[in-house]
Amino acid sequence: MGLELEKRARVASLVLILVLMSLAKFVNGGITSSYVRSANLSADMPLDSDVFRVPPGYNAPQQVHITQGDYVGKGVIVSWVTPDEPGSNTVVYWAEGSTTKSSAEGIVTTYKYFNYTSGYIHHCTIVDLEYDTKYYYEVGIGNTTRQFWFVTSPGIGPDIPYVFGLIGDLGQTYDSNRTLTHYELNPRKGQTLLFVGDLSYADDYPLHDNTRWDTWGRFIERNAAYQPWIWAAGNHEIDFAPEIGESIPFKPYSHRFHVPYKASDSTSPFWYSIKRASAHIIVMASYSAFGKYTPQYKWLENELPRVNRTETPWLIVFMHSPLYNSYVNHYMEGETMRVMYEPWFVEYKVDAVFAGHVHAYERSKRISNVAYNIVNGLCTPVRDPSAPVYITVGDGGNLEGLATHMTEPQPHYSAFREASFGHGILDIKNRTHAYFGWHRNEDGYAVEADSVWLYNRYWNSLEPAVAMVEGQSCI
Ligand SMILES: [Fe+2]
Repeated sequence: MGLELEKRARVASLVLILVLMSLAKFVNGGITSSYVRSANLSADMPLDSDVFRVPPGYNAPQQVHITQGDYVGKGVIVSWVTPDEPGSNTVVYWAEGSTTKSSAEGIVTTYKYFNYTSGYIHHCTIVDLEYDTKYYYEVGIGNTTRQFWFVTSPGIGPDIPYVFGLIGDLGQTYDSNRTLTHYELNPRKGQTLLFVGDLSYADDYPLHDNTRWDTWGRFIERNAAYQPWIWAAGNHEIDFAPEIGESIPFKPYSHRFHVPYKASDSTSPFWYSIKRASAHIIVMASYSAFGKYTPQYKWLENELPRVNRTETPWLIVFMHSPLYNSYVNHYMEGETMRVMYEPWFVEYKVDAVFAGHVHAYERSKRISNVAYNIVNGLCTPVRDPSAPVYITVGDGGNLEGLATHMTEPQPHYSAFREASFGHGILDIKNRTHAYFGWHRNEDGYAVEADSVWLYNRYWNSLEPAVAMVEGQSCI
């Protein structure tokens, strides 16, 4: 072949490859955002930052946070830490406008971790609250008293609108602070936060420096004392360090964050469920046994049939490790749980499955891989109108930085992915429609970098035909 001919042939094949590549991208349908940032690690906020400030006054309560305290949202667990002495376990509370004050008694606990001794950690469950009511509450009775407030659940009903925030893998860096600030200022106004695991990242510091659990508790207080944070445990909560004599998994986390697991007949704080507004929310444990016959399996087997979609149309599941993840980081770590539980998620028409762990954002199409049985070769996820949408929001902003490496090409099932820090908002409108938005930190507060209307799987399964068309954002 002459030189000129060879050159032309090369150009022609290059053009052909480019055409095929662009076609492949088109056929794929998914979007990999061009908004990709450097893999620089996020910088920790210094210990003397105002966000970590110790409240003034003798034995002043700090690290105040609340979570739902029962199955149906009439209870609240209030938790706080006193540094100098145990002090009072009492929470005094009253409804806005009421002159009648009530009180509830809690418990106090401490723990040691290597060379660290915790402050006095209090947990107090308030029960039988009125729905949809603003309550003020006080802790630190007898020493320095601090006052906060919360608004109870609006009750349980199929068309009660409600806004859940979603944050994961938060840590305590400047980016963490940006994420929390953006969540607080989001005009959609999250009413309860679903936290998908990996809280303080204390285990990333020498000897699992548990003072970093304290700083984190003080950092989130500005939001977590005023609205419930619903917890799932991540790998950074395990704190398993036999090399320094710490071989009880989840020791700091279990002492600091109480959840209402008994109310949903769970035997462990790592998996449980709550009902709130029009949602039934199931928390699962990626780092507790979940194989067949395990307590978690048995619990979920009983719990899923209890979900009443006439009462709570929205069935939401969250855990730490995502079942679908096309990033290189943590690739296929959720596969065992997917194999175990995806058939149930499809059978019970779960609306959405949220996770963290991967320090980035990703949203799947409505797909399932339940046909695969290891010998039939059907290993490609397929469109499935009964399947949940899988959303990863492990992008809170911790010191480990972003997951910027993605598998290529973007898998067919992946609708949108971007390596930026941010938070999610699940805005439930009624029994048929919910709006999900993902907000990257670099944008203005009102900007959503990705958004999608979710049609309820139980009430609106006959979604418009357009919803199943590739690349459409109606699912
Ligand atoms: Fe994680």
